[in-house]
Amino acid sequence: MALLDRAIVRLLPAVPKPIVQRLSSRYIAGPDIDDAIRVVKRLNAKGKLATVDVLGEEISSADEARALAGQYDDVLARIDDEGLDANISVKLTGFGLELDADLCRENLEAVVLDAAARGSFVRIDMEDSSTTDRTLALYRELRGAGHQNLGVVLQAYLRRTIDDLRGLENVRLCKGIYVEPSEIAYREYDAVRANFVRCLEALVEQGSYVGIATHDEHLIVEALRIISEAGVARDRYEFQMLLGVRPDRADELVAQGHELRVYVPYGTQWYEYSVRRLQENPKIAGYVAGDTVRRVLRR
Ligand code: FDA
Repeated sequence: MALLDRAIVRLLPAVPKPIVQRLSSRYIAGPDIDDAIRVVKRLNAKGKLATVDVLGEEISSADEARALAGQYDDVLARIDDEGLDANISVKLTGFGLELDADLCRENLEAVVLDAAARGSFVRIDMEDSSTTDRTLALYRELRGAGHQNLGVVLQAYLRRTIDDLRGLENVRLCKGIYVEPSEIAYREYDAVRANFVRCLEALVEQGSYVGIATHDEHLIVEALRIISEAGVARDRYEFQMLLGVRPDRADELVAQGHELRVYVPYGTQWYEYSVRRLQENPKIAGYVAGDTVRRVLRR
């Protein structure tokens, strides 16, 4: 990223919320469940699968955590009723991980049971490194208890990931978005890419179901190579992308016969997610500068 872009990324938290909301609107379905369902229908019509995320990582009470789990039950019911091709992605902090481990497990298990009853699937997103051990432990515990409709996420920037992946049945592999110290995380762009490839090869070799979550052309090409060389069946992997990012590339993958799932976030707690997406947009400096110029001209 160029120097100016990096400077603007650092300034993002100071940008007024309405502007952040406008700039990030392409990444979020909208505030309501109806918005998410409308977007999922549109994606399904184009041959894309979806995973719905109820934005809610900023919860601060047990009631809020239970309410979030309840919202996921509503999402699963709507997906089921409307016959959509979608599952859900959840964050354990939203289910109360930082408040009470038992509460978090109860919320997760309830949602996983509900999903299973509807023939659906739950993906646990991975958050910052303070949550990695607890997230993997809960995944293993629930899988061990027989819940097979559950998957987890691993981050290629973490040095530990190559060890963590051993024996995991269903993994979404992504680069990782949180800011982590260099003792535990690769910081160089090429090192993260290299570890992504290494981890993907290891996951494929051990026969895990793998969600290849990246918009990085280099990694998409590498993934296609790895899958083809290993002869991975079409129902043992999928590509995954975020709503609003490289939809044309996603169309191409679908046209070539690959499963492609789009991450569809919705809800009123859009701020944290939006800032993370804007920080990754290589054109962010241009957008913010353009927006500022427009506002000045309007005055
Ligand atoms: P990179 O950031 O290098 O982007 C490659 C190219 O994609 C860019 O050059 C640009 O063209 C385009 N691009 C990427 N982001 C863009 C944006 N916001 N706006 C416009 N263009 C953009 N992380 C995590 O820590 N835990 C998790 O659980 C998940 N879950 C997850 C699910 C799915 C489906 C995806 C795709 C990603 C995640 N992530 C995640 C985020 C992930 O870790 C990573 O931060 C982003 O995917 C960006 O990394 P890329 O591999 O796309 O490369």
